[in-house]
Amino acid sequence: MTEVEELRNQLRQFAEERDWDQFHSPKNLAMALAGEAGELLENFQWLTEEQSRRPSPEVLAAAGEEIADVLLYLIRLADKHPTSRQDGRRGEVPYQARNRPQSTEPSMDLITRSSTGPRAIGLLAPSSGAPPPAIVDDRVIGQTVPTAGTALLWRGDFQNARQMLTAMAKRADRHPRKAKKPSSPAEAFHLHRQAQAQRARTLGMLLIELDADYGIALRRAPDIRQACVEAWGPGEGSTVVSLRELLGLVGAHEWRAKGIPIPALDGRIHPHYGVFTPIRREYVDLVAQAPLPQALSSLGLAFDVGTGTGVLAAVLARRGIARVVATDQDPRALACARENVDRLGLAKRVEVVEADLFPEGRAALVVCNPPWVPARPATPIERGIYDPESRMLRGFLAGLAAHLVPGGEGWLVLSDLAEHLGLRSREGFLAMIAAAGLEVAGRLDAKPRHPKASDVSDPLHGARAAEVTSLWRLTARPPNLP
Ligand SMILES: C[S@@+](CC[C@H](N)C(=O)[O-])C[C@H]1O[C@@H](n2cnc3c(N)ncnc32)[C@H](O)[C@@H]1O
Repeated sequence: MTEVEELRNQLRQFAEERDWDQFHSPKNLAMALAGEAGELLENFQWLTEEQSRRPSPEVLAAAGEEIADVLLYLIRLADKHPTSRQDGRRGEVPYQARNRPQSTEPSMDLITRSSTGPRAIGLLAPSSGAPPPAIVDDRVIGQTVPTAGTALLWRGDFQNARQMLTAMAKRADRHPRKAKKPSSPAEAFHLHRQAQAQRARTLGMLLIELDADYGIALRRAPDIRQACVEAWGPGEGSTVVSLRELLGLVGAHEWRAKGIPIPALDGRIHPHYGVFTPIRREYVDLVAQAPLPQALSSLGLAFDVGTGTGVLAAVLARRGIARVVATDQDPRALACARENVDRLGLAKRVEVVEADLFPEGRAALVVCNPPWVPARPATPIERGIYDPESRMLRGFLAGLAAHLVPGGEGWLVLSDLAEHLGLRSREGFLAMIAAAGLEVAGRLDAKPRHPKASDVSDPLHGARAAEVTSLWRLTARPPNLP
């Protein structure tokens, strides 16, 4: 398959996913093509011959975007034009004639990259072999904002780059209005995630260069060296990174420095970059309020499975449990949890260990707050929220009975959002509990208080408004008597 055919197929899929096929008549496509060609012309209108041969960075970026748009509409039109189906050769002319531009002109380079479709650019080493991005600076501010498919390396004022990112975000947020109306909550969820991924790809195209020690050689650039070291470790040569990711990392650094207040601890938790952060208080309060099992009076030992920042282990220790063993598999979480229990003066009572789910032995109380939604995480940061095929939930339930002393309890913290999204059923969940040899001894419920729960413009509002977070008190079912 040629690159152009591949692109034609991507365009088909793109239109299909959004139900835009209905709007892509040859008439509409021809009009859109003419509109884009007009926008392309605008970029060159007042230039001399010479200026148009050596475009400035802003013309380069804006024209590159328009050339890509013209190409995309032309391919789509060729695909939808009735003659192209009756006579394959006519339909294929544009693909064959235009396949892989050979020119070394920078604007052609932009087309080549746009035509491969949006690429996710995270930390991109210059040696990675990826095509170099277009270089842009302050002069593009206030002009057509470049879109996905064209990576832009910013060489202007840092604060102006932030402004440009905001403008790109506004533009990206306008698109969903045309999106397909979902026919079910599950479809709404998938479309929402698709839109989020597309938005992240688009915004990830604005890149900033970092020196070997993470310094930024741009006007009005903040010193973010410490934030980068915290997230990625010491620098190893200069790198190019998306501004969006960089700003996220600076936010994470501020959270880590200030900490977030946890009333149940009468203290603060300092989350590290990439570690699940307890912003939703209701689940922490459930663990702070549930009645402690009697078995703790004979064995003062609890496990916190998948401890993250260590928040639940700290709450259990503050409730007077003599010893808590907290596990995680993520090195960032392990370091973060150790630092938090240390800061809270609980290091003697909370031991943080690396383990796949459970530590060795049995405890009187085993707590676990797995990711709540069965779905594939798109980024490592999403691993605290999405769990493919409910692996952690299933693993916890399957191993719980073997890690409880008689009379001990497992506390599973889980929201029913997945049920409202049609991604898990209550019956299926209860069947998992029964199949693991467990019984439900009780349940404490809480309504989420985070702002999204009442945001009517949120595409998942229906499910979020109905969501309940529960602490399930589970016990091992006694073996059948003969
Ligand atoms: C949703 S977060 C909960 C973190 C913390 N307990 C809390 O409530 O804020 C789930 C945590 O489980 C960890 N995790 C995932 N799979 C694990 C496994 N197989 N063994 C241990 N920890 C795991 C993740 O790294 C993450 O820190």
